Amino acid sequence: MRLLVLGGTHFLGRHVVGAALERGHEVATFTRGVSGAPPEGARALCGDRDDPAALPAALDGWRPELVVDTSCQTRAAADNAAAVLGGVAGYAFVSSLNAYRDWPPGPIGPEDAQPTWGTDDDDYGPNKAHAERVLAEAVGPAFLTARAGLVVGPHDPVYRLGWWLDRISRGGRIVVPAEGLDQPISLVDARDLAVWLVGMAERGQGGAVNAKGPVGSTTYGGLLDVCRDVTGGDAEWVPVPEDDLVATGVQEWVHLPLWLRHEEARTAWDVDTTRARELGLTTRPLEATVADTWAWMQTSERPPLPTHRPAPGLPVELEERLLAGR
Ligand SMILES: NC(=O)c1ccc[n+]([C@@H]2O[C@H](COP(=O)([O-])OP(=O)(O)OC[C@H]3O[C@@H](n4cnc5c(N)ncnc54)[C@H](OP(=O)(O)O)[C@@H]3O)[C@@H](O)[C@H]2O)c1
Repeated sequence: MRLLVLGGTHFLGRHVVGAALERGHEVATFTRGVSGAPPEGARALCGDRDDPAALPAALDGWRPELVVDTSCQTRAAADNAAAVLGGVAGYAFVSSLNAYRDWPPGPIGPEDAQPTWGTDDDDYGPNKAHAERVLAEAVGPAFLTARAGLVVGPHDPVYRLGWWLDRISRGGRIVVPAEGLDQPISLVDARDLAVWLVGMAERGQGGAVNAKGPVGSTTYGGLLDVCRDVTGGDAEWVPVPEDDLVATGVQEWVHLPLWLRHEEARTAWDVDTTRARELGLTTRPLEATVADTWAWMQTSERPPLPTHRPAPGLPVELEERLLAGR
């Protein structure tokens, strides 16, 4: 079928293109052309989706039957897609858990029981919730919104898992949160999510889905152990109480990627993913995700870090202060 990827040159979208080609679809991508070209085999259409005239001009009569939308960040982007793509047979949209009004802190139960943002704020979560509403109205029952949690894997430019891999590979004494190591967490590999999104669009599946791996498939400490196994370093964990981390100025999620303070972590990671499992979202072994990400980091040119958010990782001066005397 004719499948349009809104996005497709960066991370998740790149894997969606690969999955769609694998399934035999005729694939086109729509991007500004800033982040490079899509994988070979896809036709690159160019334009800014915030511009209402750009998508119709780029399609130039080509009528997609299926859409996977990985690139929507603004209200205009959603409105413009809704105006053009309402008649497709399947539209899989990549949203976020941030579309929920109460996440974080969560917990998040079954999708339909949880309110999403209804405000006009120009913020990530409210914008995703707006996009879900306008696209669902335009597409109807064949609109699926995948409220993704943490997405990882090869081609990830966000560098949260990447920073841990780099730091752990250098070995030595490494600051870890004392209370956080046994916190159950879950990730979704972009390649698993991509295959599933294409499948959902193909069958015109509708509805909202918390799109992540089963909670408790690993723990924070389990993930760090896998990183150490994969990189082969001699890293030694130095657990630091979270009060000390906070008092020293360590920022949650940013300085120690994926770390949240204990109370918040307990609810933020607690997301019901029953529906995702029922609809066939699979989770490859964590070891495979970490090993493939590390292999990609060794062999490929790394994409530039996004400029709109702080670079992940513990500043050296904070690490030295925290390790001193321990
Ligand atoms: N990473 C996570 O942990 C996480 C968690 C929850 C949800 N998500 C969501 O997952 C999605 C995945 O993003 P990704 O970066 O992996 O997707 P991607 O499709 O691989 O990359 C983003 C694409 O959007 C294009 N783009 C950006 N602005 C555009 C514009 N104004 N008009 C047209 N194209 C535009 C970029 O190309 P150009 O720059 O060339 O235009 C790029 O191809 C996002 O929607 C994100 O909100 C991610």
